[in-house]
Amino acid sequence: MRLFVMMAMGEDGFYSLEISRGYCGGKCNFCWKCFSNRDILRVVNSHEADFYENYLISHQYNTARLCAKAAYYLNLSEEITSQLIQAALLHDVGKIYIPTDVFMKTGKLSTDEFEMVKYHSAFGALYLKVRGIPEGITDAVKHHHERYDGTGYPDGLKGDKIPFLARILAVCDAADAMTAQRHYRPPVNRQTLIQELLNNKGTQFDPDMAEMMVKILNGEDAVNV
Ligand SMILES: [Fe+2]
Repeated sequence: MRLFVMMAMGEDGFYSLEISRGYCGGKCNFCWKCFSNRDILRVVNSHEADFYENYLISHQYNTARLCAKAAYYLNLSEEITSQLIQAALLHDVGKIYIPTDVFMKTGKLSTDEFEMVKYHSAFGALYLKVRGIPEGITDAVKHHHERYDGTGYPDGLKGDKIPFLARILAVCDAADAMTAQRHYRPPVNRQTLIQELLNNKGTQFDPDMAEMMVKILNGEDAVNV
C-alpha cells in the first residue's frame, strides 16, 4: 500500500497527522485510529491517488516552503513560524471531502460545484480540530480563502479581521497554485504572477502580504529553505 502521509511539525517533532495506515490497517470501524484514518484511506486507495499526491500533497508542501520564506521576511517567532508551516502543510486537507469528479473537472465549475469546493476550508479546519490540532493552525486553515475586501469564504471576513496567518497563507497558496501546472490550465510565469499579485493587492490579498511576496519573488529577501 502506498504511504500517503500528511503531517505537520509540532514543537516536539511531528504531529503524526493521519496517515494511510490505522491500527488495523484502516479496516475496522471501531478503533479511533482506523475510524479517523478512513477518509485518508479512501483517497490513498482511490484510482486518483496520483492526482491527490500531485495536486494536494505537493501543493501543500510547496506552499509551506513559500510560507517559510514569508516567516523569515516577516521575522516571525519560532512558535508562530511553526504554526504557519503546519497550517500550510495541511491547508487543503478538506479537499478529500470534495467529490473527485468536481475536483478533477477540466471545464468551468458550475455554481453548485463551486459552492461545494468552497466547503473545503471549513471542512479541513474541522477535520484538524477534532484531531487536537491547535486553534492557531485550524484558524489559518479555515480562513485561507478569505479575501481582504471581505468577498471571500467561508465567513466573508475583511481586512485585519482575517487571522494574520491566514493572510500570509492566502498569498503563498495563490503564488504556488498559479505557478503550478494544472489539468485545466498551464502555469503562469514569474512576471505574470507578480503582476497578478499587484493587481489583486487590497482586494484579494492583504497589500502588505502581496508586496512581501513580490519582494520574495524578486529575490530581494529570498532564503534557501
Ligand atoms: Fe484551499
